[in-house]
Amino acid sequence: MLIAPSLLSCDFSKMGEEIKRMELAGADFMHLDVMDGHFVPNITFGAPVIKTVRPYTAVPFDVHLMISEPLKYIDDFADAGADIITFHTESDSDIKQTIDKIRSRGVKPGLVIKPATPADAVLPYLKDIYMVLVMTVEPGFGGQSFMEDMMPKVKEIRRASQTLNPNLLIEVDGGISNDTVAKAAAAGADVAVAGTAVFKAENSKAAIEKLKALAQTNG
Ligand code: DX5
Ligand code: ZN
Repeated sequence: MLIAPSLLSCDFSKMGEEIKRMELAGADFMHLDVMDGHFVPNITFGAPVIKTVRPYTAVPFDVHLMISEPLKYIDDFADAGADIITFHTESDSDIKQTIDKIRSRGVKPGLVIKPATPADAVLPYLKDIYMVLVMTVEPGFGGQSFMEDMMPKVKEIRRASQTLNPNLLIEVDGGISNDTVAKAAAAGADVAVAGTAVFKAENSKAAIEKLKALAQTNG
């Protein structure tokens, strides 16, 4: 299992150092939660902040856009140094056009679905994308409980990807902990976003190692 620490739980007064700390702890991706206060009831940070912290690591930036009109801002996030951009199927932008725009900028595209959205929403695009992010909490805030009932959706996407796109990464986001990571792995997830579990741990490196080890067990 790849681990993507969510910077939503970092100390924003020293975001660059926090990113460096996560690199040293063994982060596979840096997960950056962009919220616009419209698509979700919370506001975080945008492209200028991401651009400022980009030089702190070579670890890929996994930018999760929780914004109403992702298509309008793809250039900004590509210019800021995003390696992966995921956006919600529930947003107002045309899905195919947004995927194409992300690709045209040399960035890897991904689609995100909220808990109430079925797997069907991403299946038509599987062959065009790098990653599917299955939300395991309602997007907006860190520190919520993992929704185990999202696991059938992960399995369904995994199954469909076997013929349509065998290299597709499936990411889960929300409530990942020592108690839940194995369930996500067993369902077929490749990447786990972890905010609270990694940032609030006394030893973030040990926390990431533990999550990876537990993912290898049977949940
Ligand atoms: C929620 C965000 C998540 C969140 C995860 O909208 O997309 O990345 O920060 O935080 P934890 O791991 O604390 O649930
Ligand atoms: Zn996220």
